[in-house]
Amino acid sequence: MYAKGGRKPKLLVTRKLPPEIERRVAASYDAIANFEDLPLDGAEIVARAAGRDALLVCPTEKFDAGMIAALPASVRIITTFSVGYDHIDAEAAGARGIVVTNTPDVLSDATADLAMLALLGAARGAGWGERMVRGKTWGRWAPTGPLGVDVTGKRLGILGMGRIGRAMARRARGFDMDIHYHNRTRLPADLEQDATFHDQLASLLAVSDFLSIHCASTPETRGIIDAAAIARLPDGAVVVNTARGDIIDDDALVAALQSGRLAAAGLDVFAGEPDIDPRYRTLDNTFLLPHLGSATTETRNAMGHRALDNLDAFFAGRRPADQVNSPATPIDHPGSTATS
Ligand code: DGY
Repeated sequence: MYAKGGRKPKLLVTRKLPPEIERRVAASYDAIANFEDLPLDGAEIVARAAGRDALLVCPTEKFDAGMIAALPASVRIITTFSVGYDHIDAEAAGARGIVVTNTPDVLSDATADLAMLALLGAARGAGWGERMVRGKTWGRWAPTGPLGVDVTGKRLGILGMGRIGRAMARRARGFDMDIHYHNRTRLPADLEQDATFHDQLASLLAVSDFLSIHCASTPETRGIIDAAAIARLPDGAVVVNTARGDIIDDDALVAALQSGRLAAAGLDVFAGEPDIDPRYRTLDNTFLLPHLGSATTETRNAMGHRALDNLDAFFAGRRPADQVNSPATPIDHPGSTATS
């Protein structure tokens, strides 16, 4: 893989990556790695980015407009090791002629598996159950409880029927759930299958015994699951979030869980993680996970390869498959005069 002039592209990697991915990085790029996985703040990233052609980053690093403006002019592409790119101001990057790419598809199954785990864990009290066993507070079996809620035959509302939402629907069908969804646009019949489309969020919420969130975090969706939205859910509903924490208004969800209006919540993502709203930890009806959606060896390797495929394409003078923005200035592909 060569940049203009036949040299290897200069890459800054902000986090420690799976060994297989570190090896591929070392083979193809002149890379500054972060083998110790040191937490780097914005100023440290900007300093390390000096003279770099490309950045390989993670959702743990924020690239807002100010950060994008501070990057050295040498940076031509930012590739994130994630499908979500809400941590990058892709428009600001585009305005500076910087390409942004993500890693869709390869984590859909792993994330949907985790969403199903969160759904079942919340419905069946896996959090409090495990705490009872570990804490030696498990008493006699009792007909009256503690009790969870059934999943079979219930209505599952999916907010965001993209690749992960559809993978969740496939799993939920196996639990005899009745699938409903709200999306910006209705899916074609072959993707929709037996799911019921709701063109309004309010109408989806009204039928969601279980609500599973799979939309991206955008200015339109941030805080969309607020007190008014929660009030539309059926009594005793269960909320599942494996997308982004800031889609939920924590005050509203905590109040509904404390009052028992909602039966439970299964949460893998949180606003401000890992410093989450501490009230979630105090509630028995929450099943909490530390952002494990894509956390399998196979999936993290696939994400790394996808990120590097995008970089390789860019430095070979091609448009990366997962480019998410449209740089305002024409891109002078560094590899356009070299072989790869
Ligand atoms: C993503 O890829 O956006 C995930 O949140 C990381 O698992």
